[in-house]
Amino acid sequence: CERREAVAVGDGLPPVLKIGVYMPMTGDTATFGTSSMGGIRLATEQRNAAGGIRGSRIELILEDDRGQPEEAKTVVTRLVTRDKVIAVLGEVGSARSIVAAAVCQQKRVPMLTPSSTNEKVTRKGDYIFRVCFIDPFQGEAAAKFAATVLNLTRAAIMTDVKNDYSVGLTKSFRESFTRQGGTVVMEKNYQAGDASFNAQLTSIREAGVDFIYAPGYYGDVGQIIKQARELGIRVPFIGGDGWDSPDLWRGGKAALDGCFITNHYSVDNPDPRVQSFIAAYRERHGDTPDALAALAYDGAQVLYDAIERANSVSGEKIRDALAATRDFPGVTGTITLDANRNAVKPAVILELRDGAYHYRTTITPS
Ligand code: PHE
Repeated sequence: CERREAVAVGDGLPPVLKIGVYMPMTGDTATFGTSSMGGIRLATEQRNAAGGIRGSRIELILEDDRGQPEEAKTVVTRLVTRDKVIAVLGEVGSARSIVAAAVCQQKRVPMLTPSSTNEKVTRKGDYIFRVCFIDPFQGEAAAKFAATVLNLTRAAIMTDVKNDYSVGLTKSFRESFTRQGGTVVMEKNYQAGDASFNAQLTSIREAGVDFIYAPGYYGDVGQIIKQARELGIRVPFIGGDGWDSPDLWRGGKAALDGCFITNHYSVDNPDPRVQSFIAAYRERHGDTPDALAALAYDGAQVLYDAIERANSVSGEKIRDALAATRDFPGVTGTITLDANRNAVKPAVILELRDGAYHYRTTITPS
């Protein structure tokens, strides 16, 4: 406490640092919120137990946006104006982060998303950061893997048309797969929450393809693949990070055997830093951390590291410290933020088998 009193008014850090968090704690992407909070809580508890940030305690203020962009805007406005948080962590789904980023940028409160990959998120302005790779790379990684590792040439795409993330990945996959010499034979659309995908899947079956790229979220994708198998479609599906959820397997495990996803991290990584994170997470939460938990753990730490260096609650100083993040040793890889406030990191390809994700290979950005 003496140390704190020695700090002049207007300089240094107050005894309590309020961090706003907005996540989908309910709704059809609720496991995204649960996993992310698992990672943020672990990082925060570890940091507070080790003396906080320069002796100041971190306090999290969590808001549930129910996975709705409009609600994200409302709750983030509340965090910034009523709670006066010094920085914001969230969301997962890009469509929510895009809307909330506009609020944070306008109020000059730094926002860091652990896991929103759509390009538009950090384009909202210089107060908006992320610790994950972006979808122009993620779509390319899927296309490269399909074309050069699996040697597949004929693709169909199933897109969730009202989801920025799905639309962005579709574009980057299409461009990259075509550049690799592949052909996108057919593109079909759906909307999150649709009950039947039979019409789209029947046309895809008639077209005859080597695989189906499905860059959507786990709830719909699980249903799409289940219905595809019922229609006799046996080819693999390839997807993105949005599949990553314990609830993906709800439509049946066997339907997913032999499918692949691009993702941010693998539990199979033998790196001691990764394995000790997994052990600590299991001890705290009782389950194995998925990519969202790992990214959120890294994202919270990157923010706390920046606040420590800024030694200030000023949005501008925290922003400058975040922008200067270099070689941060995360569990999802080494994090360096580029001039566009994005992390440049490799993607892992995971194979789905027997109700689990198995590491297959790593695709590095060119
Ligand atoms: N990248 C996804 C998006 O932007 C979110 C996501 C990340 C989902 C990681 C699962 C795992 O919408």
